[in-house]
Formats: sequence, structure tokens, C-alpha cells
Amino acid sequence: MKFQRFRHLRSDQSIRDSHSEVSLCPEDFIQPFFVVDGSGIRNPMPSLSNVFHLSVDELLKDVAYLQTLGVNKVLLFGAVEPHLYDDIGSYSSHEHNPVPLAVKTIKKHCPGVTVMTDICICGYTSHGHCGFVKGNAILNDESLKQLAQMALTHAQAGADYVAPSAMMDGQVLAIRHQLNLHGLKHVHIMAYAAKYASAFYGPFRNAVDSTPSFGDRRTYQMDPRNGSQAIEEVRADIEEGATAVMVKPGHTYLDILYRIHQEFPHSPLAVYHVSGEYMMIHHAVEAGALDLHPAIQEVFYSFKRAGANWIITYDSLRYWQHEGHSS
Ligand code: PBG
Repeated sequence: MKFQRFRHLRSDQSIRDSHSEVSLCPEDFIQPFFVVDGSGIRNPMPSLSNVFHLSVDELLKDVAYLQTLGVNKVLLFGAVEPHLYDDIGSYSSHEHNPVPLAVKTIKKHCPGVTVMTDICICGYTSHGHCGFVKGNAILNDESLKQLAQMALTHAQAGADYVAPSAMMDGQVLAIRHQLNLHGLKHVHIMAYAAKYASAFYGPFRNAVDSTPSFGDRRTYQMDPRNGSQAIEEVRADIEEGATAVMVKPGHTYLDILYRIHQEFPHSPLAVYHVSGEYMMIHHAVEAGALDLHPAIQEVFYSFKRAGANWIITYDSLRYWQHEGHSS
């Protein structure tokens, strides 16, 4: 039998490039940011290397720089002082919350940037859960109003996408309804549709102080043993009005990403390379076990191969900075 030859597809860089099935471009990337009150603040986060708590003025510098690299999408999280926490996370929709201020500022000074905001109350509640709490239970329907109100505040400030991540049933519908009611039909919803109860969110929770004070998130986030259910979660969110959907975490859920891409090829599909996945690589780099750039590039390729359109990563800026220097 005559054997097949493949090596001519790999003979040099230009041939390899010509035969590559996927590629990365800066427009695929979304950089998360953590916004705080005040000015002149750029505080490193001990749990998340190279990520900072930024006041709006400092944030604007980074967003403008990102834009020069071609990365034109950001995802904003608020981080506020514990004295602003309460049972229902009311500060999440407060007019002085740093997130709507950041949205306004970015849209004013960097109008070409697509601004997305995370919609969840866990960073604003005294108990650290993503919904209202009664006894040991996390209430679903009662929590929807606050999530919708938070989304409304961000949309009124000019957000292009609101991104509900609380994993409350019906959250997309409640938000869609509230936005439409206020003449904000044009504001998109990117649903964290398939969000798993993961051990890989630890560094993020330390960053925004959102670790639950009791129990865990397994009564609302998905069980890691389930794949088919993710399809139903995504289907429901699209029916409720989401125009983009997400799988989270990313590296440990490539099968889910692939299945959702196959099932819903027309909805932009985002993948979140979450804090724990990010830090695993960074610790390995610090220990001298891996080279950062090729390691994260390979992870990003795996996301694209599996069907992701958008990659949410804390490394967006550094990846494209490095690419810019090397090309
Ligand atoms: C809020 C939220 C979380 C993350 C994004 N939005 C934490 C959680 O669900 O506990 C995690 C992001 C990361 O780990 O990088 N609900």
C-alpha cells in the first residue's frame, strides 16, 4: 500500500500558514477589566497576575492602547468597597457605580470599542451569592428584577452588550423585557449560557471578593458532568433574546464549545478562559515549565478550532502586544 504524505503541508512557515484551518485576529478578543471608584488607581491583584483594579481614568488609557492593537471589545466588572454590599446587591444598579461611569467614558473617548458589561450581583451582595438568599436557598424569580435593573443601568449608560452571568433561570428574558420597555431594543445580550460550577473561578472571586459566605454555586451553575443540558441552556437563552452566547470555563469545556457551535452556528459564540485556567499557565511560566506566548497561542487555537468566535482572556492585551512586536 502506498502511504500518504502530509509533511509537504508543513515544510515552512508560509506553507503552514496557507494550510491552517483557523487563525487569530485581534477582533476575536475580549479583554476583561475590573473597575473601581476614584482616580489614578492601578492596583495589582494578588490573585490574578498582570490584572489590575483600575479607576475609570486609568481604564481609559488601557482601552485606548488596546484599540491601537486592534482589540476592540472589553468586558467590564465592578469591584466596590465591602461597606456598599447588602442582601440584594442594590449597589449593582446604583447611579454612582463605577461601571456605568466607565461605559460612558469609553463610549465617549473610544467610540469604536464594543463595551460589554457583566451582569451579576455576587460582587455586591454581603453573602456573595448571585441571587437573593432566603435561609440556605438561592431564590430565582425574586432575583430577576435586580439583575434586570443592573442591566438597564448599564444599557442606559451606553453599553453595547449586557452579559448576564448569574445563572438564574429566565434572566435573559427579564433583561430583554426591561431593556425593550425603556426603548433599548438595540442593546444586545451576550448570555453566559453554559456556565459551569467550576473550581477554576477562585482567583476571580478573590479579585472581586465574591466568594459565597456559605455553600457553593452548584444549585444554579451547571453540573460539570452534563453536556447535552448545555445545548438546552443555550437554546433557551437564544429564545429569550440573547444574540451571543458563551461557554465558561473554556479549556476544560472544549467539547461543549464544539457541540454548541455545531448546533447554533449562527449565534456568535464566546469562550471564557477563566481566572484559574489563566493562572495555571502563568504559574507554570513562572516556574520555568512553559513559554507564555506559544502556550497561550495554542490554547487560543484550540478555542477557534472548537468553534469559538470570541475569546475572553485576561491575556488579550499582552498577546497582541507581543504579536505586534514580533511581526
Ligand atoms: C460572576 C462571575 C464569575 C466569573 C465571571 N462572572 C464568578 C463566579 O461565577 O463565581 C468568573 C470569571 C473568572 O474566573 O475569570 N458570577
